[in-house]
Amino acid sequence: MKIMKKCRLNIPEEYRKSNFSKESYDNLIEPYERVCKSMENRLRQLDGNYKERNGRSPIHSIEARVKSYASIADKMQRKNLEPTCINAVNRIGDLAGVRVICFYIEEIYAIVEDIKKLKNVIVLKEKDYVKNPKGNGYRSYHMVIGSKIPTQEEATYLPVEIQIRTIGMDWWASMEHQLCYKPLDGEEEALRSDEMKRYSKRLYNLEKQMQKFYHPLEPHIDE
Ligand code: GTP
Ligand code: MG
Repeated sequence: MKIMKKCRLNIPEEYRKSNFSKESYDNLIEPYERVCKSMENRLRQLDGNYKERNGRSPIHSIEARVKSYASIADKMQRKNLEPTCINAVNRIGDLAGVRVICFYIEEIYAIVEDIKKLKNVIVLKEKDYVKNPKGNGYRSYHMVIGSKIPTQEEATYLPVEIQIRTIGMDWWASMEHQLCYKPLDGEEEALRSDEMKRYSKRLYNLEKQMQKFYHPLEPHIDE
């Protein structure tokens, strides 16, 4: 994890001391919706540029979303945070989130480099769970970037969490996420988590084998 710079956050005066309510959410989330959409569009543009230059694009799909009121409230409770607007904005890092699904492991790193080259983007946090998978077998590349809000006079950045992973990694993560919600007894739980770890390794091996079909794409950045 690498913290390069603190994000300057933009909390309107009237919410500084407020509890986190649906009404305050509707107002606070609006700039996050804008940076989320803008990051999604910039990644689609990048993908289009690759396609134009190479006849093939590295990105399979992009999902972008802002966190719902209910999930922010849940997450604050799980983290034992007081339900205030300040905590929602300063302590929940993924109010805006974008997931980029690509084809090959190498493409993850190409996309990470492209994101770092985007104008008005600073890297706040990076975690490489591709090279260093989590203990449960989870693989993905995580970044939190600060995206500059163009309308502000001062340099104000809002955080956007970007997860970059292959189709294989995404399949595993979706299965694991879904399985988490089904409660099991201790022994069954341990068996399943062993099994999921094994599948993660098998997927990694499969992806390594398929790597033989990979040809690096010529980048094209016009920003
Ligand atoms: P939060 O988990 O959001 O509190 O932040 P963090 O700083 O711990 O970040 P981390 O990189 O661990 O996880 C961020 C996001 O990645 C999560 O909200 C999930 O969407 C995803 N994620 C992390 N670990 C796992 C995992 O083991 N399984 C699955 N399915 N998703 C995971
Ligand atoms: Mg976590």
